[in-house]
Amino acid sequence: MKNKITKAIFPVAGLGTRFLPATKSIPKEIMSLVDRPLIQYAIDEARAAGIKEFIFVTSRGKAALEDYFDHAPQLEAELKKKGKDDLLEEIKNTNMDSGAIAYIRQHKPLGLGHAVWCARRLIGNEPFAVILPDDIIAAEKPCLQQMVEAFAENPGNMVAAMEVPPERASAYGILDVKEDHGSLVSIKGMVEKPKTGEEPSNLAVIGRYLLTPQILKNLNLKQTGAGGEIQLTDAIAHEITENRPVYGYRFRGQRYDCGSKSGYLQATVSFALSRPELRDDLLGFLREVVNVEQAAQ
Ligand code: G1P
Repeated sequence: MKNKITKAIFPVAGLGTRFLPATKSIPKEIMSLVDRPLIQYAIDEARAAGIKEFIFVTSRGKAALEDYFDHAPQLEAELKKKGKDDLLEEIKNTNMDSGAIAYIRQHKPLGLGHAVWCARRLIGNEPFAVILPDDIIAAEKPCLQQMVEAFAENPGNMVAAMEVPPERASAYGILDVKEDHGSLVSIKGMVEKPKTGEEPSNLAVIGRYLLTPQILKNLNLKQTGAGGEIQLTDAIAHEITENRPVYGYRFRGQRYDCGSKSGYLQATVSFALSRPELRDDLLGFLREVVNVEQAAQ
């Protein structure tokens, strides 16, 4: 098995029902934070971590996603003619090299584990990354890159981990901690969406994974778990029962849950504030809003 991770799976087959009606005709992953679609943040993070092959697990209605990564000759020619070099550069960065990107359909919504399993033939026998584009992580060093570096020192399955309040634990995969070494945590179990009060810790799985190809074999078993779905968490937890290493990695960075409206809005504000050309205006507006809200209380 080779040790360098160059392939990443992006599960993007979900219907995005939490954002209806916006997602009736556009994929959720195309919704933008300021002026960049959610998926672009995931791609940039993967590139920074050394990913060369991008595998999208899609479903019906995701054609706009394929178009987004395609060359746009007319648009590029127009920008060139008008001398808009900055924009041209931005647009070119969204293009993917021929053969670097693949789309696989998940025909039935059978769960995240099943979505990953759909890409098994494109992965073959090498370790790979999984990125859930809903989880946007702002970090000085991109989260996946942090993990790839940790993986080089400690090869094994690795999931991004973050502390969550107990009342939120039931929304996540939760780690059962064996040894806590700070950023690296060795784990003795993982539970997908535990019942409130039954969570083994407050350390939740966040949507970045580095996985060994054995996970795909575990997914072959197609066992259903929480919510009647085939869970990636269960396939990873299976490795622990076989005494193969599984780690949680406490990343440095701020995670936004862009699968929820509130998280999406917070990310929008935060990313806009980080843009010098928008910051002053937006800050002034936010101060005004807070003042008006406080005065009304
Ligand atoms: C998925 C995973 C879960 C993880 C979460 C992170 O759940 O199944 O283990 O904690 O992503 O965002 P979902 O949010 O798709 O229900």
